[in-house]
Amino acid sequence: MRTSTFVVTPNVAVVKYWGKRDNQLNLPDNGSISVTMDETVRTITSVEFNPNLVRDSLILNGKPAKENELVRAVKVLDAIRKKAGIKNKACVISENNFPTAAGLASSASGFAALACAGAEAAGLEATERELSIFARLGSGSACRSVLGGFVEWKKGSRKDGLDSYAVQLASSSHWPELRNIITIVDPGRKRIGSAEGMEITTRTSKLYMKRVKENPKLLSAMRRAIRRRDLENFLMLTMCESSRMHAVMMDSFPPIIYLNDVSREIIESVLGFNTSKGMSCAGYTFDAGPNAHVYTISKYEKEVRTLLSEINGVEKIIISKPGEGPRRLPDDKSLI
Ligand code: DP6
Repeated sequence: MRTSTFVVTPNVAVVKYWGKRDNQLNLPDNGSISVTMDETVRTITSVEFNPNLVRDSLILNGKPAKENELVRAVKVLDAIRKKAGIKNKACVISENNFPTAAGLASSASGFAALACAGAEAAGLEATERELSIFARLGSGSACRSVLGGFVEWKKGSRKDGLDSYAVQLASSSHWPELRNIITIVDPGRKRIGSAEGMEITTRTSKLYMKRVKENPKLLSAMRRAIRRRDLENFLMLTMCESSRMHAVMMDSFPPIIYLNDVSREIIESVLGFNTSKGMSCAGYTFDAGPNAHVYTISKYEKEVRTLLSEINGVEKIIISKPGEGPRRLPDDKSLI
């Protein structure tokens, strides 16, 4: 029996995934681009396939996972077992160093870690593409966390999803000055999950298809901004794309509203900062929650941090650089 342990970090999208063409396989309607974070925020996951187990078990932050989380993990494990030609059930232990409920894409790092550790524990020499596909089955955005640096998820067009996986656009050393100032805000009430939210949007939003049609142009503009380390364009595209995703959420019925008053304060504050500098030096993006990810570069890090920490309702600030992607840990670090 082989145990494998990986440390994997979340990614934060600048071109967003919101809407599936296949709910079972987590196949998106549009491509997306993200930056994988460094280990300031991380998940550690250990996996062991064991012939003595009668069912898969998943312990998340010291507690048995909820049924829906287990179901998603089993989808990833089943794909790994099929590829490896094994039948053994698995024991999975996973820990985050950030609050799971903080809306920090813990599912992205979690399922990417499960894919990496699971594939190795099953004895597979999986390619990055295979790992990305395994991770995607757990959570769409997880397919981007199997790679470091700047990452694009190719939406693909096949029904079986074999051409829907992530590729690296540039490594973390391409733009090491980039910072994500993760600004944690009290969510207030329980948010609606991404999968359910996407289903409501694709079914009811009239603006949704317009957003999907615009996506190829946005992807090429974003690739270009990243390639040239063009901060102003990178930030402008990021802010506009975040607003556009939240616009189709709002255009859904019932409307899906993740941003709150504090999020709006953050937007005003960043825009004010940019006006005072005479150019875009910081840019926000929001996922399925009120927390902001404010991208900037090291030069402005202190000023932006101070600005954000002065906003009433901001609970915590974590600063992350682009990260290198999954890292295997030695056996003595196993959680099992
Ligand atoms: C808003 O990957 O959590 O963060 O595939 O249903 O698990 P599922 O959804 P998930 O969606 C995250 C969407 C987003 C934008 C993004 O990360 O691209």
